Amino acid sequence: MPIGKSLRAGFPIFTEKAGLRYLDSAATSQKPASVMEAMSRYYSTSNANPRRGVYSLAQEATEEYERARGRVARFIGAKSEEIVFVRNTTEALNLLSYSMQDMLAKKKNRPVALTRMEHHSNFVPWQQAARRAGAKLAFVPFDAKKRITAGNLGKLAPRPDAPSVLAITHASNVLGTLNDIAGIVRYAHEEWECPVVVDAAQAAPHLPIDVKRLDADFLAFSSHKMLGPTGIGVLYMKEEWRERLPPFMSGGGQIANVGDRTSTWADGPAKFEAGTPDVAGALGLAAAIEYIGRTGMEKIGRHEKKLADRLRRALAGMDDVEVYGPPDGQDCIGVVSFNLAGVHGHDLSGILDRHGVAVRGGHHCAQPLMRMLGVNSTVRASFYLYNDTDDIDALLEGLDEARRIFSRL
Ligand code: ALA
Repeated sequence: MPIGKSLRAGFPIFTEKAGLRYLDSAATSQKPASVMEAMSRYYSTSNANPRRGVYSLAQEATEEYERARGRVARFIGAKSEEIVFVRNTTEALNLLSYSMQDMLAKKKNRPVALTRMEHHSNFVPWQQAARRAGAKLAFVPFDAKKRITAGNLGKLAPRPDAPSVLAITHASNVLGTLNDIAGIVRYAHEEWECPVVVDAAQAAPHLPIDVKRLDADFLAFSSHKMLGPTGIGVLYMKEEWRERLPPFMSGGGQIANVGDRTSTWADGPAKFEAGTPDVAGALGLAAAIEYIGRTGMEKIGRHEKKLADRLRRALAGMDDVEVYGPPDGQDCIGVVSFNLAGVHGHDLSGILDRHGVAVRGGHHCAQPLMRMLGVNSTVRASFYLYNDTDDIDALLEGLDEARRIFSRL
């Protein structure tokens, strides 16, 4: 299958919004027609409430929903029973931070470990969970290349004061850097005897993920960043944890028995899926995974890297531009964050918008990282399979205009 601008015909928004230079896929990706069709087909042909009715239409809806779960499981090398559908990565991480509450409180003499590279979604829930449990926080430092490897974990206290849980991102949404999750998990399991929660929101859309190889206990990602619809996300949970953790939300669809005073929980991922699930969303996500599979994840990753390297090289030659993240772009996803001297990220993204260029400017929901970088905002260009060199050309033209405007002020 081709890649780059030739794919745009299959994404209705690029026809509706001619001239759109969409460089904000780290915030949310655009959607191919096949994803919208899968969702519309479900509502037209199979819609009923799954896992409740015994009539054939309800069974059909249940089968569709469970088939989508199986497709997601294969995508990351998991078993179906290890996939919990949630609304998005944020919900997955909040769910965990509440379900782990008793465990964190019992081990409150051990800190909850984080990094300052986290998106607020994998930072604030743990900050609040530690506060509720009466535990301290510990921050794993970065290496010189602003990456995290097992060696950095060694800078924190050893057992018995080692962390009770480590929450860490696979890829930074600002720097694009990829952390060595397999090595980190091995270290956390062996040296700290603690579980690892991986925020894969920025990784799952761009590189092959194999949860068995990573050996992470939990891994979360969102459909909307990987060509799928908004409102559906995934929490991978190792089977042993599904048994051990209590549910966060309770109610319809997640119980085995409800007594007057106590209840027991359903087996399998349903335990964590209270309420009517987003079946159409799950089918949209499964269609997005099919689309990615047809293009090829490795090919997508190579394409984005080529584009990001090209932009990095162009920006490196400009004295008034600072680029954040490894200058060589090694071990990075297709994300490039930068600043034009003296211009706030919001102002620059506003000027780029006049050139049809959609980039995010601001703190990117990563204020602890912004403080470490000594800035309050950056402009971020993030690439995906439908981007091409014409998007970079438009961005560079917009940058020239911004320079002209701000030198006149
Ligand atoms: N997490 C998304 C981003 O980084 C919203 O832009």
